[in-house]
Amino acid sequence: MTTARNAHGTDAIITTEQPTFGFVVVANRLPVDRVEAPGGGSWRRSPGGLVTALEPVMAANDGAWVGWPGVADKEFDAFDNDGSWLVPVELSTDEVETYYEGFSNDTLWPLYHDVIAQPSYHREWWDAYVAVNRRFADAAAEVADEGAVVWVHDYQLQLVPEMLREARPDLTIGFFNHIPFPAYGIYSQLPWRKQILNGLLGADVIGFQRLADAGNFSRAVRRLFGYTTKGTNIEVPVESGGTRNVVAKHFPISIDVSGYEELAERGDVQARAEEIRAELGNPSVVMLGVDRLDYTKGIGHRLKAFGELLEDERLSATDAVLVQVASPSRERVETYKTLRDEIELTVGRINGDHGSIGHQAINYLHHSYPREEMVALFLASDIMLVTALRDGMNLVAKEYVASRIDEDGILVLSEFAGAADELKSALLVNPHDIDGLKDTIMQAVSMPRRERVQRMRALRRRVRDNDVARWSASFLDELDQARPAGAPEVRAPEGS
Ligand code: G6P
Repeated sequence: MTTARNAHGTDAIITTEQPTFGFVVVANRLPVDRVEAPGGGSWRRSPGGLVTALEPVMAANDGAWVGWPGVADKEFDAFDNDGSWLVPVELSTDEVETYYEGFSNDTLWPLYHDVIAQPSYHREWWDAYVAVNRRFADAAAEVADEGAVVWVHDYQLQLVPEMLREARPDLTIGFFNHIPFPAYGIYSQLPWRKQILNGLLGADVIGFQRLADAGNFSRAVRRLFGYTTKGTNIEVPVESGGTRNVVAKHFPISIDVSGYEELAERGDVQARAEEIRAELGNPSVVMLGVDRLDYTKGIGHRLKAFGELLEDERLSATDAVLVQVASPSRERVETYKTLRDEIELTVGRINGDHGSIGHQAINYLHHSYPREEMVALFLASDIMLVTALRDGMNLVAKEYVASRIDEDGILVLSEFAGAADELKSALLVNPHDIDGLKDTIMQAVSMPRRERVQRMRALRRRVRDNDVARWSASFLDELDQARPAGAPEVRAPEGS
C-alpha cells in the first residue's frame, strides 16, 4: 500500500496502489540521488542541468519522474518530492557496469562525441541496455494516465520511445537528446544503429540541441531506412499501412537565467567573489574553467595553452591565475581514470615549473560546488574558458553569461560546443589549434573594457531571450501538436 498525493494537484491525500499522471518524465537519473549512510540514508538533489531544466515544467504539471536513484541493488518505493511523484528504477551492480558505465558511457558517449575516445562495442552491454530500457519503459507505462504526455531524456534511454509506443499507443511521446548526434560516417559504426533509430522513431517529437544534430539524425534515417523526410518531418511507415509523422527538430536547451541573476545580485555572493580574488592573491587576471572531468571538455588543451603562455612569458604566474574546477564523473570507467591521471600530471608539472611558495599558477579543484559558490567564482573571473572538443550545449557558458550582471567578463568558447550556435559574441576558438587558443586568450587578457561590455551585453541578451522555460515550452508546444484531440494538455511553466 502506498500513500500518495492526489495526482491531479489537489491537496487531498489518497491511498492507492498506483497513482497515474498526465505528464511523465523519464530520465536515467532521478532529480535526487540516494546517499547511503550507516544507519540509514537520505536523498540529495542530483547535480546537473537536467534537473534544473525540468524543475519548472514539473512544478507546473504535478507530474511523475521515472529514473535511477544513483545506487546499485537498492529497491525504493515511489514517493512524493516537492510535488513531483518520483518512481525509482532499480539497477543491479552488474547493470551499472554494463548498461550505465558500459553501453551508455563507454559506447554511446564516445561515439556520439565524434569518437574523441574509442568506443567499445560489446554484445553483453547491448543486451543490458535493451533490458534496462525495457524496465524504464514498463515503469513509465505504469504511471502514465490514459492519453498522457511522456517526455524521455537522453542517450541512455533511446529505446524507450518505441517500447512505450508498443505498450501504450494512447500516449504522446517526446524524446530529447542532450548530447550531440554524430554525422552518419561515425554513427554507422554502431552495430545496433538500426535498433537505436527505431527506438527513437517511436517518439512523436525528437528534440536535438543543434540544427546539425537534427540533420544528422534525419540523414541516418534516410540512409538506413530510406524513409521520406520533408524539412523537420519524417514519414515513418506503420504496419496498418500509411505513415506516422515524426518531427526531428532542434531546441537548444538553456538555464534558469533569473535564478542565476538573483544569486549574482546577492551581497553575500558578491562578497564571496571578492574573497576568492583575495585568496588567489589579487592577480590582475583570473581565468576559470568549470567542467565535469570528461575527455570531451578539452581540459588538457586548455592547460597546454595556459602552460605554454607561462613558458613563453606572455603571461606571468603572479599576474595570471587559472582556477580549474573539475567535478568528479564516471570514475570507474577506464577512459575517465586515465584522463584524471593525465590532467593531474599536467597541473602538477605546470605548478611545479611556475608556482612559488603560497602561490600556484593553477588552482585545481576536484570537487562539485553549490550554485552560490559557482556564481561567486563566475563573478570573480575575468575570463571563462570553455574549450570543449565536442559538447551538446555546454550550460556552464550560459551560466557564466547569466551571472555577469555587471556586464563584464569575457567568454572564450569552443566552436564545437552547441552554445556557439547562439553565443556568437563570445571569442570563438578551435581548441585543437593551440596557437590560436593562446592568441585568443591573450586577446581576452588585453581586451578593453568597452569591447568587453559590448560583447557581454549581446551575450546576455541572447541568453535571456532563450531561457530554460522557453526551451521546455517550445518543445512541449511542438509535442502538443502531435497530441490527439481531447487528450489532456500539458502546461508550460510560467514566464515562458
Ligand atoms: C551529461 C548527460 C546527462 C548526464 C550528465 C552527468 O550532461 O547529458 O544525461 O546525467 O552528463 O553524467 P552522469 O553519468 O553522472 O549522469
